[in-house]
Amino acid sequence: MPSVTAIRSMAGSESVTMLTAYDAPTARLVEEAGIDIILVGDSMGNAALGYESTLPVTVDEMASHTEAVARATEEALVVADMPFLSFGVEQAESVRNCGRMLKEAGAGAVKLESGPHTVDLTERLVQLGIPVMAHLGLTPQRVNELGGYTRQGTTEKAAEEILDLAHAHEDAGAFSLVLEHVPANLAAHVTDELDIPTIGIGAGPDCDGQVLVFHDAVGLSESPPPFATAFGNVREELQHALDGYVEAVESGTFPAEEHSHVEDALDELY
Ligand code: KIV
Ligand code: NA
Repeated sequence: MPSVTAIRSMAGSESVTMLTAYDAPTARLVEEAGIDIILVGDSMGNAALGYESTLPVTVDEMASHTEAVARATEEALVVADMPFLSFGVEQAESVRNCGRMLKEAGAGAVKLESGPHTVDLTERLVQLGIPVMAHLGLTPQRVNELGGYTRQGTTEKAAEEILDLAHAHEDAGAFSLVLEHVPANLAAHVTDELDIPTIGIGAGPDCDGQVLVFHDAVGLSESPPPFATAFGNVREELQHALDGYVEAVESGTFPAEEHSHVEDALDELY
């Protein structure tokens, strides 16, 4: 997989491509598309596990799905997203939870929804050899505090805060920064200011890279966020296939002769 050093060096020159995956076959497809970074996002909570938000996702779930993705991935950098309250409560516990994603699950880095509380933690993790991707702007784990999945950094004060935190996390050693649902001009400014690559989602065209949730990108989500674009219509394709299966079984056209094997030895008996 590309090292975090290789990703870091893409800032300002090459576009970083990142997409989520939560299982092995999806990771294989994403990797075949030549994606640089596969994020095992806690968006898995909504996209794959049936939760209403990302908050219930556990460290065990994240480790298990990261393992599945890492087993299927050879080229891309696998980043494990740290779930709600798996970090930030207590440093020793945070470090162990993050370390587990590398030591047991096969990730190459972790992502932390960042804030003033993750600056020291980021520095500690990097010192220990656990690369950190920072994440500012809309941080969905704070949905209850924010009052919804609303755009962030829309006032001068809020924008300054994001810029300051971006610098603080770069200084703490983060190798890249996700900017989610912030004004495009703020994202462009942060991208200009930082040496590490910014990876945007709902943050305009001027970040160093882009990330989307797999289900949104392929047209599988029922209610994608307003800033996502579907590059396919997988949901319709799946529905078409499933309707076809049901119809074929009900009408008796499946299984057909070519799917059935008659055993000659039983011919006399039955
Ligand atoms: O969980 C996730 O998929 C994410 C990306 C949208 C950045 O955090
Ligand atoms: Na996430």
